[in-house]
Amino acid sequence: MRVFVAGATGAVGRPLVPMLVEKGHEVLGLARSAGAAEEIAGLAGTPVTADALDREAVVAAIARVRPEAVVHQLTAIPSPLDPKHIDAEFRLTNRLRTEGTRNLLDGWRAAGGRLFVAQSIAFAYDPEGRGLRTEDDPLWRRPPRTFAGILEAIRDLESRVTAAGGAVLRYGHLYGPGTQLADDGANTARVRAGRFPVVGSGEAVFSFTHVDDAAGAAVRALETGVRGVFNVVDDDPAPVREWLPELARQLGAPAPGHVPTAAAEETSGEWGVAYLTRLAGASNARARQAMGWRPIHPSWRRAMVAQSAGGRH
Ligand SMILES: NC(=O)c1ccc[n+]([C@@H]2O[C@H](COP(=O)([O-])OP(=O)(O)OC[C@H]3O[C@@H](n4cnc5c(N)ncnc54)[C@H](OP(=O)(O)O)[C@@H]3O)[C@@H](O)[C@H]2O)c1
Repeated sequence: MRVFVAGATGAVGRPLVPMLVEKGHEVLGLARSAGAAEEIAGLAGTPVTADALDREAVVAAIARVRPEAVVHQLTAIPSPLDPKHIDAEFRLTNRLRTEGTRNLLDGWRAAGGRLFVAQSIAFAYDPEGRGLRTEDDPLWRRPPRTFAGILEAIRDLESRVTAAGGAVLRYGHLYGPGTQLADDGANTARVRAGRFPVVGSGEAVFSFTHVDDAAGAAVRALETGVRGVFNVVDDDPAPVREWLPELARQLGAPAPGHVPTAAAEETSGEWGVAYLTRLAGASNARARQAMGWRPIHPSWRRAMVAQSAGGRH
């Protein structure tokens, strides 16, 4: 099928484009610069020029190539991230999730597209609750102030995409090439430098997703034509107090220190503390059952960094 990928040069887009091409699909990648166009051509896709926030240009670009499917992997997340000012750090990403989604949906409708798949996150579930969260569990009801706008943008994206009959893939914490947990990633550098401590008792549960599995799930969603919301996470959710020391060990870095929540709030703000102490893990049962998706990397545990070599950030 003809697949239009927005975000083809991002951490998920880079493995996604060759995966689609290998399966015999034709890929048209949104490019806003000559560099991105060149990168897409290098991945065996065809670049289509437009800025995702320019509605007219996006609608015209999609109409010109008439894809059967649109995949939305747009984000603009700075690296490194300042958790204290997460609201400012995500301003552009929020726009890509609200205006960008509307623009892509308008183009997709105008071109008579059949399938729409968009990226969301699996770590915005309400911390009040028990066990691994399913897609039916509520998102954060009283989020930290600086996270509220991010959550609002996520809700906007998810409601628009599901109302249009599309699929929303809630990715866990991404690792692999091009992520902040890559060998050359910003968080990896913090762990190596002994500047990534366990906060409080480190009880936030992380569900991870390797970028190849994030891309693979987008391919499965297209090929099965599923609709609705799906957690796309690995099989091995783990609390920070477990995965962070293991990551340090894999890196040959010093064991992470421990910082009380009050002290961490000074440096990282309410969101920074909540991120490391309150997040819940997620279940991938629905993605397994509805689209037959299985993670190629079922656990981060054995070789998070070896599985993350190469790429940007
Ligand atoms: N669930 C998660 O944990 C999660 C999810 C997403 C991202 N992240 C993290 O955030 C960091 C960056 O991720 P990333 O590589 O996906 O993001 P990125 O480098 O910001 O790229 C996202 C994609 O969106 C495109 N894009 C952004 N703004 C655009 C615009 N106005 N018009 C057209 N295209 C636009 C980029 O194109 P250009 O090449 O032109 O910039 C790129 O293809 C990584 O560390 C990643 O792990 C984490």
